[in-house]
Amino acid sequence: MKELTRIVCDLPVPETEPQRQFYYMDIAKQYVHQLEGKKGRKLTFHVSTFGCQMNARDSEKLVGILENIGYVETDTEEADFVIYNTCTVRENANNKVYGRLGYLNGFKKKNRDMMIALCGCMMQEEKVVEKIKSSYRFVDLIFGTHNIYKFAELLVNALEADSMVVDVWDDTDKIVEDLPIERKYSFKSGVNIMFGCNNFCSYCIVPYVRGRERSREPRDIIREIEQLVADGVVEVMLLGQNVNSYGKNLEHPVTFAELLQEVEKIEGLERIRFMTSHPKDLSDELIEVLKHSKKICKHLHLPLQSGSSRLLKIMNRHYTKEQYLALVEKIRAAVPDIAITTDIIVGFPGETEEDFLETMDVVEQVRYDSAFTFIYSKRTGTPAAQMEEQVPEEIVKQRFERLLERVQTIAGEKAEKLTGSVEEVLIENINEQDSHLVTGRLSNNSVVHLPGTADMIGKLVLVRLTECKGFYYLGEVVE
Ligand code: 5AD
Ligand code: SF4
Repeated sequence: MKELTRIVCDLPVPETEPQRQFYYMDIAKQYVHQLEGKKGRKLTFHVSTFGCQMNARDSEKLVGILENIGYVETDTEEADFVIYNTCTVRENANNKVYGRLGYLNGFKKKNRDMMIALCGCMMQEEKVVEKIKSSYRFVDLIFGTHNIYKFAELLVNALEADSMVVDVWDDTDKIVEDLPIERKYSFKSGVNIMFGCNNFCSYCIVPYVRGRERSREPRDIIREIEQLVADGVVEVMLLGQNVNSYGKNLEHPVTFAELLQEVEKIEGLERIRFMTSHPKDLSDELIEVLKHSKKICKHLHLPLQSGSSRLLKIMNRHYTKEQYLALVEKIRAAVPDIAITTDIIVGFPGETEEDFLETMDVVEQVRYDSAFTFIYSKRTGTPAAQMEEQVPEEIVKQRFERLLERVQTIAGEKAEKLTGSVEEVLIENINEQDSHLVTGRLSNNSVVHLPGTADMIGKLVLVRLTECKGFYYLGEVVE
């Protein structure tokens, strides 16, 4: 207990959620109040997010609770409460966390009441938790991906405890609705439609750390989006590891295409995005919906991973190079101006020059609007980690460079084609380098900078793209 007077509440602890968490938020508020009295100032917090959009959305949930109980956000890690929401998809994500933890300890030495918490995917790995318990003993709280909804309760446990509180679950079938969330942007928001992944691609740790696939009920999703729209949101990003298999396991199954049609009907919502689509589950029904939708953005992220059918089989991706190419053709026939982006892994165990050339061939044929390229990272516990024939680092690096060069050149050529056209742009923020400019996004997800002012943020405006700078455009509002 951090020199605090224990709060004793006469009411029984509610068994049901989210009531139980609101009960703990009340207790937490009283502890925060005590600490404020002791310090003679408000308490501050900082949430650092690593990894994907799922984590970004989870962080908004953490912020929602911290603000509810009285902490004030600060942009430095020299804060009273610091939490790292971690990622473990590749090894370098883990290393970053260890590096920064050492530096946090310096702050804690100066502020003995400081609390340090770790959560997210990395914490689902037993060996990580062991390492933190033995080498980073100054950490106050560790929890995982399945019990993030319990954050208020865990925070109270950590405030009351004398040693590190660790609560990591292997899996859950629970989805808790209606907890506070503080959005990073007022006009756009991520919306979880499902959690977890059942695909077990052989290189990927996500199914082990995010658990089995669970879909939210359509009515909960629609209600959340309606509330967001009432609160000023014009763009939503529907989030799931594999949105194309949404709804299959619901009591009354619903397809992703059906969900999209329902979301489309929400008045006041202007743009719909979604992430991520697995090629094996992308249905004709979805393509039809994309074709007729007025709100779904002209952007599809369709991870390829490899162009070699031989490797795709070992990766457990359930499609061949030919099937992937046919799918792209079908999508483009239906929605000619759609931007297609992808993820590609280089250096998967046993990747030969021929396999790599197959990947390059898909890149040439599809001509992606942009691509995230990754060097294969061995994740303990995945089938690929057991595979011998790991590709020598030097060869992987060379292939990575070759791939990157082609991906960037093609992306630049494709972007150039839109120069001179007028596009609808959602203005997102004041430009970080030049405050006379604002930055916005096209439907196809490209970025444009244009002269503008803060009152344009969150608005859709027509912009002429005057110049293409490769990865982004310069533009001007069309009066
Ligand atoms: N090594 C490299 N990249 C990986 N990804 C997932 N697991 C690994 C790994 N072990 C990439 C995939 C996925 C993206 C989110 O991260 O390309 O689509
Ligand atoms: Fe990982 Fe494959 Fe699931 Fe994506 S679909 S999260 S790559 S296992």
